[in-house]
Amino acid sequence: MKLLFVTSNSHKYEEIRHYLAGEKIECKWKKMKYEEIQAETTDEVSLESLKILTNEIREPFFLEDTGLYIDALNGFPGPYSSYVFKTVGNEGILHLLHGKEREASFITVVSYYDGKEYFQFRGECKGAISKNIRGNTGFGYDPIFIPEGYDSTYAEMTIGEKNRTSHRIRAMEKFVAHLKIE
Ligand code: IMP
Repeated sequence: MKLLFVTSNSHKYEEIRHYLAGEKIECKWKKMKYEEIQAETTDEVSLESLKILTNEIREPFFLEDTGLYIDALNGFPGPYSSYVFKTVGNEGILHLLHGKEREASFITVVSYYDGKEYFQFRGECKGAISKNIRGNTGFGYDPIFIPEGYDSTYAEMTIGEKNRTSHRIRAMEKFVAHLKIE
């Protein structure tokens, strides 16, 4: 089996390719940037992007959207994660959390178009924001996110280690389970 993944992000592609290889599924990468709407949930952003792309891509494909939800900030940056990363970045998040509780979650919503219908699969990883920026693997908020039950940030882990707890792979596991019963 082959799946077509649309993303401009090589890290997302590598994580998903690594997981799918273990499931004996080939991941084809359609490397492209696409317009993302601004909405109040990661689910909506992901679905709307998928729907817009079906005007261009006629075969089955999937994409994903991810957000970092920080409890002490009432879920911020959530669907604004990309903008916040580009503007204040990891330093800005550490600054905002000074003296606050550090619990946070990553949520990934995978959206899949099977050629006829749309499907969505959600994965969550609970954890905490570290006190400092640590590690140099991965991308985005990885250097400040420690998954529950671990001491290392995602940026101090290999792809295989990150994939054991990650939001992205939890969403992918549901997607693959759906494909197996389809
Ligand atoms: P998007 O899904 O590409 O829109 O991601 C929103 C923001 O979250 C971007 O700044 C990404 O760099 C960041 N991000 C997405 N997934 C991850 C992840 O697995 N780890 C760390 N940061 C992430």
